[in-house]
Amino acid sequence: MAMRIPFIAGNWKMFKTKAEAKAFAEEFKALYHDTDVKTAICAPFTQLDTLKEAFAGTSIGVGAQNVHFEDEGAFTGEVSLPMLKEVGVDYIVIGHSERRQYFNETDETVNLKLKKILGESDIIPILCVGENLDQREAGKEAEIVEGQIEADFAGLTAEQAAKVVVAYEPIWAIGTGKTATPEQAGEMCTLIRQKIQALYDEDTCDQVIIQYGGSVKPENASDIMANGDVDGALVGGASLVPEKFMGIINF
Ligand code: PGA
Repeated sequence: MAMRIPFIAGNWKMFKTKAEAKAFAEEFKALYHDTDVKTAICAPFTQLDTLKEAFAGTSIGVGAQNVHFEDEGAFTGEVSLPMLKEVGVDYIVIGHSERRQYFNETDETVNLKLKKILGESDIIPILCVGENLDQREAGKEAEIVEGQIEADFAGLTAEQAAKVVVAYEPIWAIGTGKTATPEQAGEMCTLIRQKIQALYDEDTCDQVIIQYGGSVKPENASDIMANGDVDGALVGGASLVPEKFMGIINF
């Protein structure tokens, strides 16, 4: 059985200016100490350089929140993989539910982006999946999430699949203060691992890091991560505050 290192990533979404990012980094570095947990902050594109510089010489990773699947072209407003490689990001969040909901991200574009990242860089993708409230209330969460995993991983080799970080984020728990119960989070992360095993093999699914995301706070982090299939968290709101984010890392 593979030893998976817990991974706590912050997702700043569209928060923090350069000055605010710098102030966060200074405060966070003062609190931060190396632990058995990996960590990273996924920030707006314009703050990536600032964070790379601020976190140089530490084990704190830096991630982007999206990438286009073409190298260059007439795609106004988009950022490409070569551009992110130049900045030196360690992670890229792909298929966040907000991008699926407001920016026409589909399983098809998510799949193209995963293939691009894994085929042409050493950057680790953080793939977000999860059901909405209607789907959960209709008892369809397993079907929805298994379908996303199957479509998003299509065409990836086992070696590529093993590198993907999957973030299970029930949409009804994002930014709502309504966290999934540890049982719900555990069940769904187990289901995702089993699905990856069905698509590949046991060795591959053993290596995949699976995070839970949705209203994770210092107070609920250890309960959420008690299940052996939950390897960490993708943290929105609480990652904006150094003490709170550090509190989650210290779960
Ligand atoms: P939240 O966001 O922690 O603010 O609920 C999680 C996410 O969207 O990644």
